[in-house]
Amino acid sequence: MNILITGGAGFIGSHVVRLFVNKYPDYMIYNLDCLTYAGNLENLKDLENATNYTFIKEDITDALTINALFKEYKFDKIIHLAAESHVDRSIKDPVAFVKTNVIGTLNLLNAFKECHKSNFKNKLFYHISTDEVYGSLGESGLFTETTSYDPNSPYSASKASSDHFVRAYGETFNLPYVITNCSNNYGPNQFPEKLIPLFINNIINNKPLPVYGDGNYTRDWLYVEDHAKAIDLVFHMGDNRETYNIGGFNEWKNIDLVKLLCKQMDIKLGRPMGSSKKLITYVKDRPGHDKRYAIDASKINNKLGWKPSLKFEEGLSKTIDWYLNNTVWLENVTNGNYQLYYKKQYS
Ligand code: NAD
Ligand code: TYD
Repeated sequence: MNILITGGAGFIGSHVVRLFVNKYPDYMIYNLDCLTYAGNLENLKDLENATNYTFIKEDITDALTINALFKEYKFDKIIHLAAESHVDRSIKDPVAFVKTNVIGTLNLLNAFKECHKSNFKNKLFYHISTDEVYGSLGESGLFTETTSYDPNSPYSASKASSDHFVRAYGETFNLPYVITNCSNNYGPNQFPEKLIPLFINNIINNKPLPVYGDGNYTRDWLYVEDHAKAIDLVFHMGDNRETYNIGGFNEWKNIDLVKLLCKQMDIKLGRPMGSSKKLITYVKDRPGHDKRYAIDASKINNKLGWKPSLKFEEGLSKTIDWYLNNTVWLENVTNGNYQLYYKKQYS
């Protein structure tokens, strides 16, 4: 089986590629990634010599190249993760999000359809999406698979749009698909623009921790390897044209999460208790900031038997250890363009 994984050099993609390459030696895994600022082949160094793994440096917005690759490799199944993924960047440059997340997804759908339209048997288009398409919750309630889409940021609007196109290709062209909408991931290899790795990096460097607004925003956090395991299950056992929500059963207000992170960092860095907390700085809020995300993951739990394996305190501790043990990785990704981004976003 030839499997195309897009965005495999990014945060979640690299964990999915590793799981598939190691667990399924009979599958040929093709990782297609154009290596934006968020893509990093260092994330997959351990797989360089694997015989069932090939890296393809191409861009999903380039329809001609994508069509040619499908002609050459006839990918049976695709796990599509490539995306622009950061809300703050989508506020500054929404068009880039439409290009990659909407047009890029359409290019893949078209190439997949053309390649297999005479026989879709044993073929699959697996689209990886986010809970952010559902918009924002109040104090109570959970997102289920039937919650109406109500995206508030250019990022979530572009992901919602791509989800709709995948469904529409299922309805219109009979294309076999599955979609999963997952909550906030954390863990090793996450680019330090997202909350947890950004704050770990800032604590290491004794820099302010910029908490948006009053810090009372809530997210549902899931360790990235648990997400990869859920993807493995849905890929093999998910029903055609179904959506599954994936979440951590693990809601945290940002400020409480940051305080826990500060505590763990003080201990691991051997600094006096309370020193990281002093770095907390409340800054201007993100426009259109979603108040609360929380996933009802009972469908994937009941139907496929998936549940998160790690408690948050444990996952967070493992994550911090990874960043402290991989300072060269951190330094490499925070050189150059990262400094420009940081200045623009936080000054
Ligand atoms: P990421 O930003 O870390 O990685 C994205 C990857 O896609 C990078 O390797 C990048 O080089 C590649 N890419 C971007 N544009 C491309 C293009 N035009 N052509 C080819 N490759 C391109 O993102 P992530 O956090 O790993 O997220 C992966 C997927 O999971 C995304 O679709 C995202 O919407 C979804 N998701 C993420 C989260 C989360 O918490 N990070 C939660 C739910 C869903
Ligand atoms: P983020 O990691 O960007 O994920 P998302 O916006 O996709 O949920 O942000 C998680 C939460 O942390 C969100 O409520 C915004 C907040 N946040 C801050 O308070 N400060 C920051 O510097 C960042 C990047 C995020």
